[in-house]
Amino acid sequence: MRGGPAAPFPPWPKPVLLLLLLLLLLLFSRTRPQGSPGPLQCYGFGPLGDLNCSWEPHGDLGAPSVLYVQSQKYHSNKTWTVAVPTGQNWVTIPREQLTTSDELLVWVAKASQLLWPPVFVNLETRMKPDAPHLYPDVDFSEDDPLEAIIQWAPPTWPPHKVLVCQFYYRRCQESWVLLEPEVKSIPLMPIEIQDLELAIGYEMFGRCHVDKEEDLWSEWSPILPFQTPPSAPKDVWIMGNICGAPGRQEPLLLWKASGLCMQVTYRVWIQVKDQEVIQEETPYCNFSVPTQAEWVGVSAVNATSWESPTNLSLTCLGPDFAPHGVVVKSISGNTELLVTWQQEPGELQEHVVDWIRDGDPSEDLNWVRLPPGNRSAVLPVDFKEGVPYRITVTAISPWGLAPAPSVWKFREELVPLSGPVVWRIQDSPSGIPAVAWEEVPRQQLRGHLTHYTLCTQSGTRPSVCKNVTGSTRTITLPDLHWGPCKLWMTASTIAGQGPPGPSLQFHLPDNTLNWKVLSVVCLLWGLLLTGCGVSLATCGRCVHLRHKVLPHWVWEKIPDPANSNFSLPHVKEVPQAQPPSDSPILEVEEIEQVPVKEPSQPLAPLDSGYEKHFLPTPEELGLLGPTAGSRLRPEPTSGEERGAPLTDEDIEAQS
Ligand SMILES: *[C@@H]1O[C@H](CO)[C@@H](O)[C@H](O)[C@H]1NC(C)=O
Ligand SMILES: *[C@@H]1O[C@H](CO)[C@@H](O)[C@H](O)[C@H]1NC(C)=O
Ligand SMILES: *[C@@H]1O[C@H](CO)[C@@H](O)[C@H](O)[C@H]1NC(C)=O
Ligand SMILES: *[C@@H]1O[C@H](CO)[C@@H](O)[C@H](O)[C@H]1NC(C)=O
Ligand SMILES: *[C@@H]1O[C@H](CO)[C@@H](O)[C@H](O)[C@H]1NC(C)=O
Ligand SMILES: *[C@@H]1O[C@H](CO)[C@@H](O)[C@H](O)[C@H]1NC(C)=O
Ligand SMILES: *[C@@H]1O[C@H](CO)[C@@H](O)[C@H](O)[C@H]1NC(C)=O
Ligand SMILES: *[C@@H]1O[C@H](CO)[C@@H](O)[C@H](O)[C@H]1NC(C)=O
Repeated sequence: MRGGPAAPFPPWPKPVLLLLLLLLLLLFSRTRPQGSPGPLQCYGFGPLGDLNCSWEPHGDLGAPSVLYVQSQKYHSNKTWTVAVPTGQNWVTIPREQLTTSDELLVWVAKASQLLWPPVFVNLETRMKPDAPHLYPDVDFSEDDPLEAIIQWAPPTWPPHKVLVCQFYYRRCQESWVLLEPEVKSIPLMPIEIQDLELAIGYEMFGRCHVDKEEDLWSEWSPILPFQTPPSAPKDVWIMGNICGAPGRQEPLLLWKASGLCMQVTYRVWIQVKDQEVIQEETPYCNFSVPTQAEWVGVSAVNATSWESPTNLSLTCLGPDFAPHGVVVKSISGNTELLVTWQQEPGELQEHVVDWIRDGDPSEDLNWVRLPPGNRSAVLPVDFKEGVPYRITVTAISPWGLAPAPSVWKFREELVPLSGPVVWRIQDSPSGIPAVAWEEVPRQQLRGHLTHYTLCTQSGTRPSVCKNVTGSTRTITLPDLHWGPCKLWMTASTIAGQGPPGPSLQFHLPDNTLNWKVLSVVCLLWGLLLTGCGVSLATCGRCVHLRHKVLPHWVWEKIPDPANSNFSLPHVKEVPQAQPPSDSPILEVEEIEQVPVKEPSQPLAPLDSGYEKHFLPTPEELGLLGPTAGSRLRPEPTSGEERGAPLTDEDIEAQS
């Protein structure tokens, strides 16, 4: 051995070497776990199809490979070759070249080199079936719990040979669940899926393999979608003022969709007082019900026979049954809200806590239903800070509803975004300037109003501010100095003071001078009237003449001696028309008109018109009707109706 290091093995002929290698590899391949697919594998397509052999690519891709097939059972040691196109790593052997139930030894060589360990192929079993077929008509059991029965057909197969099939199903888009146990093709039984839920879209599919060839699955069957019978929604609620005065909008019936991954058509029953029950269908989860409706029920079209509609009695049970002491608290470090309330013990009662963001449409109402005995709820929503939410707790029983007054709640109050818009109104009778303002809309206020702050600045003097309670809407300004004057307001919440609203600028006349002028004018008028009166006293047509000679607004103001009264003058703050001599120097300039989100209440027409166009219009001079006097008075502000700050009175009114 020492003499020949260059030739450690005797020079055996090449075929013998190959055969040895083959045997070695054969031993090795035999020890591989049965059934596990190796780098080389062969299978037939169905019971009568060709044999496909494929292998993992290896080595030089350019060189052509050759597949060797040796019959082991019927044609002992007969070997033949199949040429493989260059670069391809599979080849099919036509069925005609094979004998049914034969056993083959198969290997691949490239340039006389064995590529992978040879494999045994049992033509009797080594077959890949077609996919099973699922029939689309799915049946459901007639009672609870729900069970689906699916008919299926295994792939074509010799009738005495057993196929084993497995099926997967899933609820909606959740993960696939293997249906156990596996199903056999003999005897053929329908597939049963148990414990399904109503009104849900399911999907299923399956595959098969020949008994004992666990690794050789068929392709997956196409996915069969099916839906369980629709069902009535479990949670039905009403948005609207059931116990209050009927509003302009009809109550909106809302429910939580019962279908998951499927479209349900709902059937709504409505019982209006002394009328037939109305029955309607809708694909949505809402339905407008007439204000007089007493009872509603919601079910689904084609629902199962064992399911009854979900009912809600809309009878108002009265305040004695309503929850009281409703408190809404923010949870620190959390965007949720905690609602607590009290309820007199009595009938078995559920509660519903509903909430809606200010200004949102009715169908965006959210609600939670609490079991009897539960007196608190955490509203599981991301409440935004500085946004008002209306929260209502309602006791419900099979006989009706009893809502507690609604609560407006901010998860966290913020500083207002804008200040009130101020405008001048008629001066007080004693000539003191007066202003009115509009409330800041709720969305701009971003909290509960604590107070207003009114600031004035006369000429070049420093500005002076004072606090005004939140319920005030007009104020007189006795401390103003004559000359140019600027005025603005801010609103405050617990979080702080907001920015000033648009400022109002005007010029205050020097009143001392005015009074002198006025007294002279009055004296002249007095003399003139006395003259007129005396000269016309003897004439029967004097009354008509008086009306013709003097403008309407003058003669109406002329004191009638019959009414003369020397008691104290009225101190009431009902401002009257200013003396005409005041007008020419009164100017109002509203600067930086900040757009207000909600359309602002139109100013009393004459207030602004009178101030801006200081000369009386022809109508005012001559053609004013008998209502002229009343028109000159400021119209009551009706800001309370809309965008009002959140006072307790409002809440009572809202409920
Ligand atoms: C044979 O099997 C291989 C690998 O699975 C595949 O790529 C090839 O398309 C098959 N041949 C035929 C004719 O189906
Ligand atoms: C087939 O080959 C094996 C091993 O090479 C050998 O033992 C056997 O005798 C052969 N059979 C026939 C029929 O030639
Ligand atoms: C009911 O719901 C649908 C869809 O969500 C919506 O388009 C419709 O406006 C709602 N109807 C009412 C009256 O709110
Ligand atoms: C109810 O069932 C009938 C009969 O099966 C069917 O024709 C109809 O489309 C179904 N209606 C709905 C809304 O599913
Ligand atoms: C709803 O009312 C109908 C008719 O009164 C009744 O048949 C049904 O059982 C009720 N449903 C429930 C859940 O109480
Ligand atoms: C009320 O319900 C909540 C959850 O729904 C629960 O955690 C709590 O214990 C209940 N409280 C009472 C008094 O039943
Ligand atoms: C107005 O009230 C707030 C809060 O009560 C106070 O901080 C502020 O000093 C007051 N302003 C005036 C001008 O009184
Ligand atoms: C005069 O004033 C008194 C007290 O204010 C009142 O009772 C009386 O009616 C007045 N008379 C006339 C004519 O207005």
